[in-house]
Amino acid sequence: MAKILVLHGPNLNLLGTREPKTYGSTTLAAINADLVAIAQASGYELDAFQSNAEDALIDRVHAAAKDGTAFIVINPGALTHTSIALRDALAAVAIPFIEVHLSNVHAREPFRHRSYIADLAVGVITGFGAESYRLGLAAALKRLAG
Ligand code: DQA
Repeated sequence: MAKILVLHGPNLNLLGTREPKTYGSTTLAAINADLVAIAQASGYELDAFQSNAEDALIDRVHAAAKDGTAFIVINPGALTHTSIALRDALAAVAIPFIEVHLSNVHAREPFRHRSYIADLAVGVITGFGAESYRLGLAAALKRLAG
């Protein structure tokens, strides 16, 4: 069974209580359960991984190259705007990925407008709350179906 990996970066473990006006009130566990169910209904295994540590996220990207991951949906959190190392990891494994954000980063502070990974992504979905992940997964499933 082909695998999809969903990666969540720093502070996303706090979803549900973290700045709900910006990020909504859905927990990360609820988002992940929803994505697993949607992927399974389409015949895909979905693994979700969250870390507050850049190195752990990079290691998970490296592991994806060896575990049959066919597509990555990633919300790198603040690492979006800072991490050349995460960019390099995604480039190194060359697994297609979609970048997602709960908030509309372009409607926020200027430092959130720059993404170090967007140009490598198949596409970027930003501003739809928890729905951003569903939209990202739907796009990934469509790509995988060819
Ligand atoms: C975020 C946007 C980032 O700017 C921020 O640092 C986050 C969450 C989002 O999903 O809207 O942690 O990636």
